[in-house]
Amino acid sequence: MSDISVDLCGLKLKNPTMLASGLIGISGAACVNAAKNGAGAIVPKSIGPQEREGHNNPVLVEFEGGFLNAVGLPNSGVDNSLNELEFAMKNAGVPVIPSLFGGTKEEFGIVAKKLSTLNPEMMEVNLSCPNTANDFGTPFALDKEEAASVIKIVKENTDAKISAKLAPNVPDIKEISVAVEKAGADAISAINTMPGMAINVETGKHILHNKQGGVSGYALKSIAVKCVYDIFEAVKIPIIGIGGITYGKDAIEMIMAGATSVQIGTGIYYRGIDVFEKVSKEIESFMSQENYNNLEEMRGIAHE
Ligand SMILES: Cc1cc2nc3c(=O)[nH]c(=O)nc-3n(C[C@H](O)[C@H](O)[C@H](O)COP(=O)(O)O)c2cc1C
Repeated sequence: MSDISVDLCGLKLKNPTMLASGLIGISGAACVNAAKNGAGAIVPKSIGPQEREGHNNPVLVEFEGGFLNAVGLPNSGVDNSLNELEFAMKNAGVPVIPSLFGGTKEEFGIVAKKLSTLNPEMMEVNLSCPNTANDFGTPFALDKEEAASVIKIVKENTDAKISAKLAPNVPDIKEISVAVEKAGADAISAINTMPGMAINVETGKHILHNKQGGVSGYALKSIAVKCVYDIFEAVKIPIIGIGGITYGKDAIEMIMAGATSVQIGTGIYYRGIDVFEKVSKEIESFMSQENYNNLEEMRGIAHE
């Protein structure tokens, strides 16, 4: 049997599949359910400083290559989310990695400090939501100095390991990665959704209420693989590959590009909540077939 366990910044994952933020919300029970269905770690929906309704419907539309969403970071605010998170952390049986965002740099610090009262081993810093520019301005992940200063503030407010979640729509993801690594990020989550749009040809109008949204699913995969490949060449910290992972071979591609672990979001829609178990089995059977003993033997081999 091939070994598919992962060491992610000292966190022990039984397999490399993680639940991506935002796909099943913040409910503790839903997080536990994803863990029961094989996720090696859980990243709940991003949490901000205050309660936030998000955008009006429609917030999600399917197209040939995946989904476009503009949910707009709805969440109940950090103070009201601690109970659900605590439930998830106590009952999931796998690492639960809270995801946080803020409208300002200072708010990132405030949320990080409050989340740290739960002593999470790791937190993901969402620097890259493409759908909230009207409220918060340009995402921090689009500028290396802005991204680095958020990571610095978060590090000052927590002892947890920090993964910086980056955006694909930048001219040079390597320089953003180097900047967040220098600012103290322990890992990089790559990538968030890619800005996109869909128009209803009957009405001649945009489909999403927010007009534009973020592309996830199959259409994002090759973009994500390139981002992970580029980041691997620029930094030493581990990379969590995210974007379009649906089958075991997608996860393997990410790992060969340099990812230490992967997150699955839209894949839940295509294959069910047990996508984590399915993808893990597919990775294992590929490795046995190809005589890989562990994930380390595959990691980054596309660079050789
Ligand atoms: C409906 C929806 C909501 C999302 N909400 C969040 C979020 O709250 N925080 C975050 O960092 N990413 C969020 N994402 C982005 C995902 O975590 C992930 O980066 C993206 O969907 C690409 O992965 P996938 O192709 O496997 O879905 C969301 C994605 C979708 C589709």
